[in-house]
Amino acid sequence: MLKPQTQAYVPKVMATLDAHLNTITTKPLQEAMRYSLFAGGKRLRPLLLLATVASFGGSVEDCLPAAAALECLHTYSLIHDDLPAMDNDDLRRGKPTSHKQFGEALAILAGDGLQSSAFDLLSQTQTTPAQLVTCLQLFAQAVGANGMVGGQVLDIEGEHHHLTLAQLKHLHALKTGALLATAVDMGAVLASVSEADAANLHQFAASFGLAFQIQDDINDRTKSTQALGKTANKDIAEAKNTYPALLGLAGARKALAEQVQQANDALTQLSRPVPELAAFLTYFDA
Ligand code: IPE
Ligand code: IPE
Ligand code: MG
Ligand code: MG
Ligand code: MG
Repeated sequence: MLKPQTQAYVPKVMATLDAHLNTITTKPLQEAMRYSLFAGGKRLRPLLLLATVASFGGSVEDCLPAAAALECLHTYSLIHDDLPAMDNDDLRRGKPTSHKQFGEALAILAGDGLQSSAFDLLSQTQTTPAQLVTCLQLFAQAVGANGMVGGQVLDIEGEHHHLTLAQLKHLHALKTGALLATAVDMGAVLASVSEADAANLHQFAASFGLAFQIQDDINDRTKSTQALGKTANKDIAEAKNTYPALLGLAGARKALAEQVQQANDALTQLSRPVPELAAFLTYFDA
């Protein structure tokens, strides 16, 4: 689905993650962090950042720590999302979840460790001090109380309650959209794009992020556990608010197609063609 040059960033991101993990001296913690980070996964967030940087002439090598930071933060969010107190999942990326493998205490701490590692790595990005501070702010805001964590609260609090479409859109924008959007926003900062391009890139990423969670909601109903690498039909079991629950599968697919169209429209507003970014839109099957 992605351009070969985009796919070629994956081993570089993995090498950055591996080098970072090797610095962790508490071995059981290193093992638990490595288990989840190296379990596979599409690596979409690091690839989005690097594709944005490359599309606007920035240095992929200099930005590898920022890309690795996104994957650490995302992996922490998955470990905590799967905990019994949250979505209570046994399978992730085709393997037993962290708490099944290591127990809840180490799973929680592996998530904590990955979250701090994300900020450590981001701070190692090769850029100007001013751009680095901007990225740190964008990142902290995207993943914190007014971003991903806030969205996870709305998700959990919403179980067994009926949310309106506007409320669900807001929930999805926070829990999933914010981190995906910050991948593109940080890439825009690191590549020193113009204000107009940054605004259109943000619009692309926000639409992509919502589309991504709608697709995830659809996949939960339509794909097998084997294909997902996580337990299928879990959202109904947990009484989650999802696009298919609210709009039906056909309605969810229509909403997905609208978001993909909006993401595509935003890309056409940019000052240059961005085939590497456009290729991300082939991920969706509406
Ligand atoms: C899963 O994210 C969690 C959501 C935000 C829907 P991904 O689908 O990107 O998971 P991996 O990284 O490929 O495992
Ligand atoms: C996950 O949403 C959002 C996160 C911040 C991790 P889901 O709960 O739908 O993700 P999956 O389906 O478990 O991957
Ligand atoms: Mg969840
Ligand atoms: Mg979940
Ligand atoms: Mg899901």
